[in-house]
Amino acid sequence: MTTQIHGVSGCAEMSPRWTRWIFSVSVIPALLISTASIYAQAPYPVESFASIDELGQEAKIQVERLEKVLASPESFEKQKEKSVVQAFGLLACVGQGLAEHAESAKSPYNGPALRDAAMKFNSELDHAGAKEALEGIKQVLDGKVTGDREKLRPWNELIEMYPAMEEMNTRNSEILKVLKRPRGNPEEISPVVAWGLLGLAMRANSDYASEDDEQAKWNGWSDEFHQATIKLGESIRAKEKETGRTWFDKASATCEACHKVFSSN
Ligand code: HEC
Repeated sequence: MTTQIHGVSGCAEMSPRWTRWIFSVSVIPALLISTASIYAQAPYPVESFASIDELGQEAKIQVERLEKVLASPESFEKQKEKSVVQAFGLLACVGQGLAEHAESAKSPYNGPALRDAAMKFNSELDHAGAKEALEGIKQVLDGKVTGDREKLRPWNELIEMYPAMEEMNTRNSEILKVLKRPRGNPEEISPVVAWGLLGLAMRANSDYASEDDEQAKWNGWSDEFHQATIKLGESIRAKEKETGRTWFDKASATCEACHKVFSSN
């Protein structure tokens, strides 16, 4: 130890070191913690369950679904708390999925812009407001929206748990239909892509599980669901209906297990 404090110059020499020390001990970890929580990346890689083309297809499928539902004020009123909320929420997930995908550079659509456009929707909007939000999404898909946006956005902000679950349930029956006779059509993967995306939102919603041991359960079932979804997708792409059914059943087992602990219904 050769450090000597002698008069003013000694202090002047020490202060930068002290500032650096204080900075690294307090400021850097604080920054890391806050960025980690604000910009949490997807808990699983998006490319594990969907290609860029499959995500693009899902965007179009959801836009078509919204066009039908928003075609008249009557059907909007009927579906505004269900299909409308679910489709916009899923579109936000598709956008985020495109943004984080390993091959996002190949995406024909601007993922972050799609996400932000879908998030312009909220359940307070009337029919005209919802149509305007849909128009914003179509402009992104038409390549009319440019400019850089924040790449990351937490998955639990993209869709709320309740509509995410309702959408998982809707897709449940679609998957069963496909598994009866997979033909190898590109659209057959759509419900599994939706499951994958909604599974990311579900995993990120772990604040349903308050205690530490509950968190472990939540994450465990989410992970099992995710693994089963990956395998289910592979089976459907390969038109292997028996293997697909096995993975579908494994995924369904996680729905039941998790509901027993975390859902009042
Ligand atoms: C990791 C935990 C977990 C998994 C896995 C899970 N869910 Fe849920 N689910 C919940 C929770 C929590 C709720 C209650 C949400 C609420 O009411 O806000 C719920 C609610 C629901 C609801 C009811 C919405 C309502 O209250 O009427 C449906 C339907 C549903 N889930 C379907 C599914 C399906 C289908 C699967 C599997 C494909 C699944 N869930 C997997 C945690 C899970």
